[in-house]
Amino acid sequence: PDHLQVNDNDELLIGGILATDLAEKYNTPLYVYDVAVMRQQMRAFKQAFANTNQDGAVAYASKAFACQAMYQVVAEEGLHLDLVSTGEIYTAVTAGFPMDRVSYNGNNKSQADLAFALDQGVGTIIVDNFVELALLQDLLAERQQTQQIIFRVVPGVSAHTHDYIQTGQVDSKFGFDLESGQAKEAYEIAQADPYLDLLGLSAHIGSQIFEEDGFELAGQRLVELCQSWHFQPAVLDLGGGFGIAYTDEHQPRRPEDLVQALIESVQRQCAERGLACPAIWIEPGRSISGPAGYSLYTVGSRKDIPGVRNYLAVDGGMGDNIRPALYQAKYQAVLANQVHGQVAETVRLVGKYCESGDVLIDEQALPQTKPGDIIAVLNTGAYGYSMASRYNRNPVPTVVFAENGCSQVVVEGETLADLTSHDRAYQLVAN
Ligand code: LLP
Repeated sequence: PDHLQVNDNDELLIGGILATDLAEKYNTPLYVYDVAVMRQQMRAFKQAFANTNQDGAVAYASKAFACQAMYQVVAEEGLHLDLVSTGEIYTAVTAGFPMDRVSYNGNNKSQADLAFALDQGVGTIIVDNFVELALLQDLLAERQQTQQIIFRVVPGVSAHTHDYIQTGQVDSKFGFDLESGQAKEAYEIAQADPYLDLLGLSAHIGSQIFEEDGFELAGQRLVELCQSWHFQPAVLDLGGGFGIAYTDEHQPRRPEDLVQALIESVQRQCAERGLACPAIWIEPGRSISGPAGYSLYTVGSRKDIPGVRNYLAVDGGMGDNIRPALYQAKYQAVLANQVHGQVAETVRLVGKYCESGDVLIDEQALPQTKPGDIIAVLNTGAYGYSMASRYNRNPVPTVVFAENGCSQVVVEGETLADLTSHDRAYQLVAN
């Protein structure tokens, strides 16, 4: 990637610090974030709005990577947050994030979830379905409280991505359906309820998408829908999903350029249909935290099968990065002290978990390695830590932020004692 920092000795730097020093200081496996890279991407998205003279908001979709420190950086950069659980809301509140800049997504918010969101002053609830709508109406009536909401609708757009992470097609668990008139019905309910302040509509078509046509079509559907209801929205929320390059083979368009094209397209759509262009919100997750993240591992054992392949094992794997096993996601790795070193072999980079699917990288060319060397898997900042598990009773690794030559733990890694801290002895009691 273009932001890869390497010193004159061909050693990897993250946030100005030697990756091998970070590994030594904090132990591996380790997640490290180059905070400047995240700030840069946040600013690039805001710049796309400035370039197009467009009012709006960039809401970081923190499902990609969430912790209190991340929320602090998002607050500092003046972004909004897109949250999807009571746990994320709690994390934001405890980080001191301004809750009026929070939108709350999700397809199965319980009454307790909604009550918690109202208690915490969540700015906008993105209402997904009729059950949620009814729960929210009851809570608001009881509290005699008004709430800003947005309706999530399904634009009926199939984006080109992995099936599990595609959400905009008609057959989806998310959002109000258009064809059957569900969206219209929800709109009418909101119009009739004095406690519901309907800001507009949202759509999210999927994740890791590069083509602008899907986004533009979704934007167009939202504009058409508002026009057909004679509804002038204050906000159109176009979701997230802007793709990133995981390997050098792929040189996609920059996410901020995709967003700028999308903004211009919505502006045109509105102009053509006599609608004042509302504020545009976007919800990028992966594109902000993904490229900034590195997974550092220590090389351990190997198994060379003559004529078949060489397996090189590191001290992490599917517990800290499930994406290769779950989505056949591709990554690339470098040897931290010899980033552009001469290639000696191609290995299958595997983890230490007890199953064959625990592969981080199917085929990775590397210089000669030995046990104890540090390997950095690149672009692991999105959906790595946030989807981590304790499989095989491995503790969740430490997360470090690095910036301007300084580093700091932002999530303590779990200890062995943490692993058993929620265990309780079992004693059959006669009753
Ligand atoms: N907004 C909504 C409503 C979403 O559902 C998502 C992601 C986003 C925004 C952010 O999308 P992003 O900009 O990060 O692509 N675990 C999968 C990705 C699941 C995405 C779920 N929704 C992965 O590791 O690829």
